[in-house]
Amino acid sequence: MSDSSAPAPHKRRVRYSGKNPRRFEDKYKEHNPERYAETVEKVLASGKTPAGTHRPIMVAEILELLAPKPGEVAVDCTLGYGGHAQEILPRLAPGGRLLGLDSDPIELPKTEARLRALGFGPETFTAHRSNFAGLPKVLAEFFSLSASDGERAGVRCADIILADLGVSSMQIDDPARGFSVKFDGPLDMRMNPQRGQPVSAFLAKISPDALAALFVEYADEPHAATLAPALAGKTFATTKSLANAIRAVLPRLNKEDCDLSIRRVFQALRIAVNDEFSALDTFLRNLPACLSPGGRVAVLTFHSGEDRRVKKSFEAGLRDGVYSDIAREVLRPSPVERNANPRSAPAKLRWARRAA
Ligand SMILES: C[S@@+](CC[C@H](N)C(=O)[O-])C[C@H]1O[C@@H](n2cnc3c(N)ncnc32)[C@H](O)[C@@H]1O
Repeated sequence: MSDSSAPAPHKRRVRYSGKNPRRFEDKYKEHNPERYAETVEKVLASGKTPAGTHRPIMVAEILELLAPKPGEVAVDCTLGYGGHAQEILPRLAPGGRLLGLDSDPIELPKTEARLRALGFGPETFTAHRSNFAGLPKVLAEFFSLSASDGERAGVRCADIILADLGVSSMQIDDPARGFSVKFDGPLDMRMNPQRGQPVSAFLAKISPDALAALFVEYADEPHAATLAPALAGKTFATTKSLANAIRAVLPRLNKEDCDLSIRRVFQALRIAVNDEFSALDTFLRNLPACLSPGGRVAVLTFHSGEDRRVKKSFEAGLRDGVYSDIAREVLRPSPVERNANPRSAPAKLRWARRAA
């Protein structure tokens, strides 16, 4: 048995070269925002995202569109760091609840603990590790567990649904997750590392033709035909080794264009190993059945393949009378937000309202 009165063992401060830590794991102050608020403020003021956190995008716009009210049930399908959830939750009180889903088993418990520490107890906030493609089943379980509260018993719908697609800054910035070209790490990119295969295994097995098609379909990559035969069937253990191989295949491109190709290839492979488009298609198909009459949904997308799907689905729903109103124009982050948080720049926001 451990002696709880014993002093905690002394830990030496992390050593790093230079004035500021560069490696994710050395940024211990950013990983402890409660203790080092001043450092975190400085990082935010420089337009960066403190390590181990995520800056929620278009919060004011999303709150206005979703208009959360006391007593309502909200689902945040992509809980991430809980930035949006943290703003929605107080507006549901008294009597409302928020169900937060995320497929990431590494970050979800940290976010649950963070939101609990902010005072959101199990009576108002539930965190659940799940893919949002399974939303109808998750909602049915959620309501059956809370079926005791009379009027909601038998109901399977939410008043508010939010999906902020793609990856969080915690995932991108952690080299161990293998999402980023900027940091060397294992070539993985799975949001749930307990499921499916890492990008390294995926690339080792795929044919050149299938890979070329995937680069075009998932990322509009103009050099797909040149890149695919050089990468398919090969083994790349790390993010840097894949990035270097792409550079070697495109020697005549200037650095800027080459970096764009690298980013697009990484995006296409991430979409593939996480099956992102089929999850989104299933989610959009199920959405009307998961929203109560008059319920609101907002979806933040980060590239054209995602936005196209959301736009088409909402327009079809409006034509069929499933939605009473939808976003006529896509909404974008303000210049002030894009400047303060450059990661918000590609975001596009669309919304829909379920017919009453
Ligand atoms: C952009 S982040 C969300 C950030 C969040 N809105 C916030 O304010 O912190 C996207 C999150 O969605 C999760 N995610 C992506 N696809 C998912 C899916 N199909 N099902 C469930 N979660 C998913 C990722 O693991 C990631 O944590």
